[in-house]
Amino acid sequence: MIDLVLRSDVALLDSTEDSLVFDKSGWRMRLRGLGERAEERLSGLRTGPMELGAEPGEAFSRRMLTVVQMLTARDLVELRCGEAGNILLTAVSVSELSQVTRMTEPGGGKLFRLSKFVCTRRSGSALIIESPRKYFRVEVVDPGVLVLVGLLARPQSAESLVQNCAVLEREAVHDTLAFLGLVGAVVECREDGKSEEDLLPVLVQREFHDVLMHSKSRQGLAGEVVAGTFRFAGEFVPLPALKEPMGASAVPLPRPTGAAGDGSSMSLAEAMEKRRSVRSFSTRPLPAAQLGEFLFRTARLRGTHPMNKDDPLSYEFSDRPYPSGGGIYDVEIYPVVRNCEGIPSGLYHYDPEGHALELVSRAEEVVRGFVHTARISAVAESEPQVVLVLSSRFSRLSWKYQGLAYATTLKNVGVLYEAMYLVATDMGLAPCALGGGDAVLFSRATGLDVTEESTVGEFMLGIEG
Ligand SMILES: Cc1cc2nc3c(=O)[nH]c(=O)nc-3n(C[C@H](O)[C@H](O)[C@H](O)COP(=O)(O)O)c2cc1C
Repeated sequence: MIDLVLRSDVALLDSTEDSLVFDKSGWRMRLRGLGERAEERLSGLRTGPMELGAEPGEAFSRRMLTVVQMLTARDLVELRCGEAGNILLTAVSVSELSQVTRMTEPGGGKLFRLSKFVCTRRSGSALIIESPRKYFRVEVVDPGVLVLVGLLARPQSAESLVQNCAVLEREAVHDTLAFLGLVGAVVECREDGKSEEDLLPVLVQREFHDVLMHSKSRQGLAGEVVAGTFRFAGEFVPLPALKEPMGASAVPLPRPTGAAGDGSSMSLAEAMEKRRSVRSFSTRPLPAAQLGEFLFRTARLRGTHPMNKDDPLSYEFSDRPYPSGGGIYDVEIYPVVRNCEGIPSGLYHYDPEGHALELVSRAEEVVRGFVHTARISAVAESEPQVVLVLSSRFSRLSWKYQGLAYATTLKNVGVLYEAMYLVATDMGLAPCALGGGDAVLFSRATGLDVTEESTVGEFMLGIEG
């Protein structure tokens, strides 16, 4: 049995022939266009669960589907699957865009399969199935349902599910299948096992984690707050703006004598027009003065704003030439120096305050590893003088932001890339952003835990050849 139940903060106040008035947490909402006999259809909601499809011939009819759609998308009802005292699953909409899906009746040898976009995970003490493409959040009340979910990794008919899912009765299998179909967690397949997810180009080309991350990091789709909520303020001390010095020795970098704003640079318009990616490098070493000027102009620390100890929402933020979400500057720069005049080859951490390189590793295989990976991902003709590896100190952002922390990191990488491109162009250097770096190399070389700090981008810098 699949029921509609009013959400706990919702009351059905009034009804006419074709409209219903709800109260949701003190807000009045009148719904029109529910069709004739709206009152009659939905009167069951006043007193408790209302069975979907209780009217003869009404099961999952298009009209009923429209009604369910209107009520779920406005977050007025939840869907329940099972009998009273034996609820199997519940589901709520997480977005106004949520869509209930009409599936055919599970008989007649039709095949069904779990959507490739669903995610099953623990949330608090509930087991949930998220259906990010249709914007529903399902809670698994009876763990027996998971046997059926497991079987649905492969295309299954309702009959084969009944035979193989020993923990659920026939009716429960049918209801669960219909329910998961309604919220888009299960899709219907053709005889060859292919569903629309294998056939529609727009779905075939989307990966599960990309769809999930998009829906989780945009307001209106996440079903949760997506904002700077400072939810860990008072619980954890925010990470300082600057990392503790890495390595025992630091190489001071030359500072430019003029550069920023002294008239020796090309105009912004010219730099924008000349900017391009370069993948061919000369054998000449990059002078330390040029690497120093490049890092100074893109990424040095211009100042820090200290934390206000009396304000629990305060954190230390900084000021640098490129922008960063919340002034947080979670992104760290690790220059891999292959061929620089005046700087021994090695993996370094850039100290934006002291404008110096802190030695992390001098191991040849580390340098070779980063340079080789960069060259491969650019299909470059030759090796760059320097690879700038960008990492994120994830907790810097996640202390403040909920839902959008990692999305913000990737945006921060984008603006740093552009700043690097423009400065390199102005300096006559060869720049190229990279998208597919190796996080293991970095983790091995630095000893940093991937959940704490890991690579999020790479940038080749050199002399064109
Ligand atoms: C986020 C991002 C990732 C990139 N990843 C790579 C890459 O992995 N390999 C590569 O050769 N170029 C990469 N590029 C450079 C683009 O291929 C390049 O910007 C694009 O082809 C336009 O050419 P242009 O930069 O010369 O104008 C990347 C650029 C950006 C912004």
